[in-house]
Amino acid sequence: MNAIEAYGDKLYIGAAIPNFVFASWDKYSDLIMSNFNCYTCENEMKPEAILDEEKSRNTLPSSYKHAAVKFDACAPVVKTALTVGVKLRLHTLVWHSQTPDWFFTEDYTSGGAPVCREVMLCRMENYIKDVLAFFLEGYPDLIYAVDVVNEAFDRESGDENGVRRDKNMWYQTVGSDYYYQALLFAHKYAGHSTKLFYNDYSCMYKPDIILSNLKSAKKEGLLDGIGMQSHLSLTDNQELYFAAMDKFASEGYEIEVTELDVGVKDADHEKLERQGEYYQDLMDRIMSRRESGTNISAVTVWGLSDHLSWRRGEHALLFDENLNPKPAYYGFLRQYKKSEL
Ligand code: XIL
Repeated sequence: MNAIEAYGDKLYIGAAIPNFVFASWDKYSDLIMSNFNCYTCENEMKPEAILDEEKSRNTLPSSYKHAAVKFDACAPVVKTALTVGVKLRLHTLVWHSQTPDWFFTEDYTSGGAPVCREVMLCRMENYIKDVLAFFLEGYPDLIYAVDVVNEAFDRESGDENGVRRDKNMWYQTVGSDYYYQALLFAHKYAGHSTKLFYNDYSCMYKPDIILSNLKSAKKEGLLDGIGMQSHLSLTDNQELYFAAMDKFASEGYEIEVTELDVGVKDADHEKLERQGEYYQDLMDRIMSRRESGTNISAVTVWGLSDHLSWRRGEHALLFDENLNPKPAYYGFLRQYKKSEL
C-alpha cells in the first residue's frame, strides 16, 4: 500500500519539492511517483524566485509599473510534472515574505522610497497577470490551484481587523485591502479550471478573522477555497483544528491541507510512534469528513523526508533521512496498528 493506492482516486495527494530533488530524480522518483499525484514548489514559484531584479531595473522607466519576471527556476518541476502526468499547485502570488523589497520601491532598489498605492496596484496586477498567463498559455491545465494570497491575517502583527500590517510591504504600499485586490486580479486572469485559494498558518487559532476578512471576496465569487497550511505539532489539539476546518466548510469554502507536517521535539521511539498515531487520527478525520460530503480536495505534505524539512530537527515528515518510511507514513496511510504499540 502506498499513498496513491490509499488516496489517489479521492484526493490530490501532494508534496512540496525543492528543485535539487529534480536534479537527483532517480533517487527520489519511486518514492514520489508512488505517493504523490501533485507537486508544490517549495520555493521556486514564490515572488523572490520569479521577479527579475536586474531586468526590471535595467528597463526603467518602461518597467516602472510592470516588473520583469523569469521562470527559469520553475523549469524542472514543469518538465517533470508533464512527463509524469501530475498537476501543480502554484504557491504563492501575494505574500509579505519571500518577496523582495525592491519590488515595492520607486527605483527598484532595496532601500528606495516605497511607491504609491496606484503604482503598486499596477505592479500587482501585472505580476499576477504575467505569472498566471505563463502557465495558462504555456501549459494549460497544469496548475490546478493557486495560493493567491498567503498569510494576510495575523492578530498580533495586524491592524484592527487582523490584516497583517507589520513588516508587510503590501500593506504599506497598497493598504489594508491588498489581499482583496489580489483576489480580484487573480479572478480576472486565472483559467476557469484553476481553483483560487487563500492560504494561511495556524488557521485553528484564527478562523473568525479569516472568515470575516474574506467575506466580501467570497460573496463576489473571487475565491474557491481556504488552504490550511497545517504546520502542526504533537501537542496541537485536533479538535480545534477540525473545528476551524468545519467552520470554513460550512461557509462554502473548498478546503485543501496545503503544507502538512507534524513536528516532534526531542524525538525518541515512543514520540515517533505517537506521531504515527497523530497522522492517522488526522487522516481518519479528513477522510470521514470527505465521506460525509465536506469538500476537502487535497492534502499536501511540506517536504519528502525529515532531513529535507524546513523544520530542521523536528522529524516532522513521513520518511526518515534514508527515505525509509516512519510510523508517520503508516499513520498517514491509516495503516498504523495502534494495538501493537
Ligand atoms: C518555507 C520553505 O519550506 C523554506 O525552504 C523557505 O526557506 C521558507 O519558506 N509557510 C509557507 C511556506 O507558506 O512557503 C514556507 O516554506 C513555510 C511556511
